[in-house]
Amino acid sequence: MMKHRLFFVLCILSLCLLYGWQTSYPALLPVSPSSGNSRNVTILLWHWPFNRSLSLSGDICWDLYRIPHCRVVDQRSFFPLADVVVFHNREIIIGQQKLPLDLLRPQGQRWAWMSLEAPAFNGKLRQFANIFNVTITYRRDADITVPYGELLPKDPEDHLVKDIPQNKSLPVCWVVSNYRNSHKRSRVYRDLRATVPVKVYGRLTKTPLLSTDLLPTISHCYFYLAFENSVTKDYITEKLWRNAYQAGAVPVVVGPPLSDYNAVAPPHSFIHVDEFTSVKEMGEVLKQLVEDKKRYSEYFTWRQRWKVKLYTDWRERLCKICTQYNILPQHKVYSDLEAWVFAKKV
Ligand SMILES: *[C@@H]1O[C@H](CO)[C@@H](O)[C@H](O)[C@H]1NC(C)=O
Ligand SMILES: *[C@@H]1O[C@H](CO)[C@@H](O)[C@H](O)[C@H]1NC(C)=O
Ligand SMILES: *[C@@H]1O[C@H](CO)[C@@H](O)[C@H](O)[C@H]1NC(C)=O
Ligand SMILES: *[C@@H]1O[C@H](CO)[C@@H](O)[C@H](O)[C@H]1NC(C)=O
Repeated sequence: MMKHRLFFVLCILSLCLLYGWQTSYPALLPVSPSSGNSRNVTILLWHWPFNRSLSLSGDICWDLYRIPHCRVVDQRSFFPLADVVVFHNREIIIGQQKLPLDLLRPQGQRWAWMSLEAPAFNGKLRQFANIFNVTITYRRDADITVPYGELLPKDPEDHLVKDIPQNKSLPVCWVVSNYRNSHKRSRVYRDLRATVPVKVYGRLTKTPLLSTDLLPTISHCYFYLAFENSVTKDYITEKLWRNAYQAGAVPVVVGPPLSDYNAVAPPHSFIHVDEFTSVKEMGEVLKQLVEDKKRYSEYFTWRQRWKVKLYTDWRERLCKICTQYNILPQHKVYSDLEAWVFAKKV
C-alpha cells in the first residue's frame, strides 16, 4: 500500500515541479517524518484496551506503519496537548476507568469512543450522550474505521502465485466454543449438517484446538463456517479474514447482509447463506463444489490480485486516526451514542 502511496506522492510532486507550483505541502512527503514544519497530531490513549499495554517508544506510527506526523502517547499529562483523546469502551463501561469529565477540554480537542465489539456487548451507552466527537469501530460509517481485516491489491511481484489450496479431506468445518441453540448460526448449522457432513471443533464437541493448530486444521477443509456470534451491520471478524482466508478454506458466512460482505470481501470468495432459498439448498451446492475441482478452485481466483491484511495491533488503529484527522468534521457530537451504536435512526 505504501508503495502505491509513495508513487502517488511522487507523481503529485513531479506535477508540482512541472507546473512551477511554488506552494509546498510537507504533509504529503513521507520522508523525514520528525523534521519539517508540519506539526504532529497528538493522540492520547487514556487507558489500554484490556489492560494490555504496548510500547510507544520512538516514532511508532512512522516506524511501524509509515504514517508521518503522528504522536501516540499514553501519559495522561499530555491531556492539555492532545488533539484526540481515545477511550476504549470496555474499561469505562465496567467502571475500571473513568472519563475525566472534570477536566477542561482544550479548544478543538476531540474525544473518541473506541470499540470493536458488536452492539450487544458494549453495555449501556445512554450515559455517554453528548460526550464523544469521534467513533472508532469496525463499521464503515464510523469516523475512523478499524476493520478486523481488509483487502489490499497485491504487489506486482506476487502476481504469479498459483494459489489454490490442495490436500483437502473434510467438506465443511466449524470451530465453535460458545454454542447457543437460539443463535441464528446454530440453526443454520443444524439444518446444514442434515445435508452435508460438518466437522465441529471446539468446546462444544470437546475437541478444542490450540491456536497454533487452528489454521493447519482448517486448511484441510473445503469450506469453513465463518459464522459470526452477532448478526449486525458490518460485523465481519477474523473468522472470515483469518480463519477462512488465511487457512485457504472457502468461508460460508452467517452475519450481516450480503451487501456488507460485497463491500469489503473479495469477489467470488465466499458463500453467504442469504444467497439460497434454504440451508438445504446451500448444503447441496457445497456438496457439488466439493466434487467439482474446477468450480471450487474459482473461489480462489481473487488471490491472484488481492491479499488480505489483518488488523491486530491497537497501535495501528491509533495511528490510523492521524491519516483521517484532517478530514474529520469540524464539529461533531454524538448526542445519542447508544442510538448510533445500535444503528437506529437518531
Ligand atoms: C493493569 O495492569 C497493571 C500492570 O500490569 C497492573 O498493575 C494493574 O493492577 C492492572 N489493572 C487492572 C484493573 O487489572
Ligand atoms: C513528532 O512526533 C514524533 C514521535 O513522537 C517525534 O519523534 C517528533 O520529534 C515529533 N515532531 C515534532 C515536530 O514535534
Ligand atoms: C496431505 O495431508 C496429509 C494428512 O494430513 C499429510 O500426511 C500429507 O503430507 C499432506 N500432503 C501434502 C502434499 O501436503
Ligand atoms: C466535542 O464534543 C464536546 C462535548 O459535546 C463539544 O463541546 C465540542 O465542541 C466538540 N468538539 C468538536 C471538535 O466537535
